[in-house]
Amino acid sequence: MDKTLVNSREFFEEAFHNAQLDYREVEFESADPVPSISLKIDNGRIKQVLANLIDNAVKYGGTNIIVKVEKLGGYLQINIKDNGQGIEKEDLPSIFNPFFRGEKSRSRESGGTGIGLAIVKYIIEAHGGEIRAVSKPGKGSEFVFTLPLYLKGE
Ligand SMILES: Nc1ncnc2c1ncn2[C@@H]1O[C@H](COP(=O)(O)OP(=O)(O)O)[C@@H](O)[C@H]1O
Ligand SMILES: [Mg+2]
Repeated sequence: MDKTLVNSREFFEEAFHNAQLDYREVEFESADPVPSISLKIDNGRIKQVLANLIDNAVKYGGTNIIVKVEKLGGYLQINIKDNGQGIEKEDLPSIFNPFFRGEKSRSRESGGTGIGLAIVKYIIEAHGGEIRAVSKPGKGSEFVFTLPLYLKGE
């Protein structure tokens, strides 16, 4: 990882603005203003995380994506919530495993390889963060990840 200091508001506002340009048919909503704090991150890698999560949200049926960035204690928490097909209960524990693809997703023409979320998890953990997913099948999915705040001297 090649980490540099960035301002969280500038970074995430730009990322979500670019996502809106890439997916004009999808509505991106921001739940709250993005907090303005320092993060020490690998810019390109965290952009890759957001691109993978947003690509999934759209690919698996999302037409409305709500993003929320909050400062909680010693970290920043990023939520990406879609209104797509959702994830079956039995699939949920496996989605971060390399090459896992949900039953419904395997039958899709726009086939992925099933490594997107494994890479996402690897990158988040390499930043000292965590990622989890919650979903209501048929209603949508929500991916939540954390990034530790930058503390002086680190
Ligand atoms: N936003 C989402 N909505 C519904 N299902 C999802 C979503 N994101 C991931 N999944 C499920 O998790 C599986 C693994 O995701 P991923 O690793 O990105 O692989 P891929 O997209 O190539 O199938 C997908 O096949 C799909 O079943
Ligand atoms: Mg994917």
